[in-house]
Amino acid sequence: MDTAKTTSGSSIDADVARVIVDAQRITARIEQLAGQIAECYEGREVTLLAILTGSLIFLADLVRRLPIRARLDVALVRSYPGSATRSQGPTLRLPPEPELKGCDVLIVDDILDSGGTLRLLCDTVSRMKPASVRTCVLLRKDRTDVVDRAEPDFVGFDVADEFVVGYGLDYNGLYRNLPDICVLNDQVLQRAAGGTSA
Ligand code: IMP
Ligand code: MG
Repeated sequence: MDTAKTTSGSSIDADVARVIVDAQRITARIEQLAGQIAECYEGREVTLLAILTGSLIFLADLVRRLPIRARLDVALVRSYPGSATRSQGPTLRLPPEPELKGCDVLIVDDILDSGGTLRLLCDTVSRMKPASVRTCVLLRKDRTDVVDRAEPDFVGFDVADEFVVGYGLDYNGLYRNLPDICVLNDQVLQRAAGGTSA
């Protein structure tokens, strides 16, 4: 692989076919998103509910750009067992804390694909009687085949319908530590592997 294709400079670069969104663009976009979110919740206190594990890095960068009062909560959803590159249906492995009643909740995820994960979390949170529920994703996949997808309130980037890794997103548990959003080599994707990822 041509190492100039990625800005990360790490040895996992060899598994990367190309960079979709580089770290610099991510940083700049998060600054803008934080501004939009702060404006939306002006005078309110927001509870950021991070969907683990993929949103960890996004959440960490986003929350530090928010100039408003913010709380953090987490929920764990799994939908990509092992080396799957299409969702096998989301399951809630760790629900959010039940004290979201009356809160302004902003659900934060790494990527919107079929929309099943956000729908599951929105339904779960709504049952807790929050003051409001909104959603924010770093990436939104172009899925023209999905009907009635719940669209997020805040979106970082629109990307093509292909499997991506980096900046928190994994393939079979790996590549979350790539600083850029990347597409992997075909050989890596074809390699059979076990384990789970989310
Ligand atoms: P959805 O439920 O089909 O919308 O899928 C969203 C979830 O699947 C996200 O929380 C991610 O964990 C995971 N996901 C979807 N697409 C990708 C991808 O391209 N790379 C890595 N994870 C993905
Ligand atoms: Mg996920």
